[in-house]
Amino acid sequence: MLFFGGDYNPEQWPEEVWAQDVALMRQAGVNIATVGVFAWSDLEPEPGRYEFGWLDRVLDLLHDGGVQVALATPTASLPPWFTLAHPEALPVTADGVRLTHGSRDTYCVSSPAYRAAARNIAGRLAERYAHHPALAMWHVHNEYGTDCRCDVTAAAFRLWLQKKHGDLSTLNEAWTTSFWSQRYSDWAQIGPPRATQYMPNPAHVLDFRRFLSDELLDGFIEQRDLLRAANPDVPVTTNFVQGGWVSVDHARWAEEVDIVAVDHYPDDAGAGAEEQTAFAADLARGWGGGSWLLMETGPNLIYTSGRMHAKEPGRLTRHSLGYVARGSGGAMYFQWRQPRGGAELFHSALVPHAGPDTPVFREAIALGRTLRNLDVAATDQPAARVAVTWDAPSWWALQGPGLPAGDIDYLGAVRQAHRALYRAKLQTDFVFPGVSTDLGDYRMIVVPHLYLVSDEAAAAFRDYVAAGGTLVVTYLSGIAEPDSRIRLGGYPGAFREVLGMRVVEWHPQAPGATVALSADLTAGRWIERVETAGAETISLYADGPLAGAPAITRNRYGAGSAWYLSTALTDDSLQTLLHEIAASAGVEPVLPDLPSDVEAVRRGDLLFLFNHGGRPATVGDVVLPPGGVRIRSADVEGAPVGRG
Ligand code: GLA
Repeated sequence: MLFFGGDYNPEQWPEEVWAQDVALMRQAGVNIATVGVFAWSDLEPEPGRYEFGWLDRVLDLLHDGGVQVALATPTASLPPWFTLAHPEALPVTADGVRLTHGSRDTYCVSSPAYRAAARNIAGRLAERYAHHPALAMWHVHNEYGTDCRCDVTAAAFRLWLQKKHGDLSTLNEAWTTSFWSQRYSDWAQIGPPRATQYMPNPAHVLDFRRFLSDELLDGFIEQRDLLRAANPDVPVTTNFVQGGWVSVDHARWAEEVDIVAVDHYPDDAGAGAEEQTAFAADLARGWGGGSWLLMETGPNLIYTSGRMHAKEPGRLTRHSLGYVARGSGGAMYFQWRQPRGGAELFHSALVPHAGPDTPVFREAIALGRTLRNLDVAATDQPAARVAVTWDAPSWWALQGPGLPAGDIDYLGAVRQAHRALYRAKLQTDFVFPGVSTDLGDYRMIVVPHLYLVSDEAAAAFRDYVAAGGTLVVTYLSGIAEPDSRIRLGGYPGAFREVLGMRVVEWHPQAPGATVALSADLTAGRWIERVETAGAETISLYADGPLAGAPAITRNRYGAGSAWYLSTALTDDSLQTLLHEIAASAGVEPVLPDLPSDVEAVRRGDLLFLFNHGGRPATVGDVVLPPGGVRIRSADVEGAPVGRG
């Protein structure tokens, strides 16, 4: 059974609305509600005084209506009484400003008072609801990612550093502290990166982000263990959020949750939204090791640079089924009912301010019906022969100070590689070489901007190619060791041997620059002086300062081949190139000859066909209306088993 539902905040509404909610949920086929995410001040209005009566009634009502519950611990938003009693638990910014109560996520995860209060409320909920018949899963906290630089954090950071580096001289070496007289002679001299005169030490900044990820994870694990102890049969999760500000290494966290749950909000109103949907779903499936759940997305909303874009009719269905096709255990939204006030008062909902007699709610009813008719098991997952690497610490390092260009964009580079494969209609997975050196049995692996690479991961990539794999490495990969010290002898250090070449000079170009390459390819923004050492040159720089020098190379290594892309190819050029490389590696599109606007995904026995374009499209004997979705048995030619 696929989940269909989303965040439900009955505490924001008078009780008579709850019965309407459940009736509407039944009408739409909603079978799960995430309850209590930010309800702490309604659950514990004063320290030690609990109000569980309303939550009892909500859970019973939902259960009677056939709706299961993802019950949240409310620890992402503290009640006002807590912050008054514990001002030291409020987070401090890098500028030394202690934040004030008034929003959410205003806590320091290292604060003992915060942690005790979080354990307490999670424990009370566990005690009361662990065996409630409506309980389908625990939803710990919300979108972990808060940052604090206070003195308590500083002490926790030092302990983490001691555990990681062992002794100060190892840390001094790893951080290259002789640069600008930063050599530490006592642990007490080290704090979180705070506002300083000029650029901070990149290794310090990177270790702090890794520390934050582990510290937040400790906070999660404390709650998870309490909840598990109360009833080991109920899965525990937390909703992952992706963003440049989030210091959470989800690939590592994935091992600690029972279900990988992901929030995703595309930020491109055009076809980019569909591409981002595919990207987020493929990445989440990778984190989940083959299964995952879309915990939140906007029912009728795409945020585009400060503007809300309403989804066109049918797009809610297309996006939702897009996540499901790529392995999600359901489609869940933020949120069920649009609130009357509060900070997100205009964020979209399945039941908007205008009520249920609206396009979005009507579409939700139809979607609920489609999801009910879909027969997919969590273990039915799309199978891919090509993978892209993902590494959160490389992202963080490429946000650091002192980089050679201001427009280096890790997420952009990974998205671009995924987008090129998506447009070539190739089903794509992700691999996580910073967490596991198991590179699977993919025919092809694309490595965009994998800046930090360990010796073990470098060896795994060499073995992969030697055994017959096809590796495609882009510029800014393999540059540094995991602690961010540069690998000497020429870039891309960790990959030099397998690639049979080296880079001796970077030539960052102006944003918007265009550089012509031979073989009809176009690039810009970034070029490099490449020296081959065994690799053959596939494409040369045709103009610009490196005219005549190698731009794209290929090295035969053992039974496989390893490509190097020394420049920022345009979308079209990257797509052409990756398509050709994939074809030569024997990676086939999901279906041959698909129209450009059509996306096809196989999940188990089902074939999902999406027409993202504005005109009808034909795939075999299936005619897809503009914006339409058809779901067919992948093996049997027959009638659609569901439709959007
Ligand atoms: C995330 C949060 C929700 C809400 C939405 C708004 O998903 O978990 O609480 O803030 O973003 O986009």
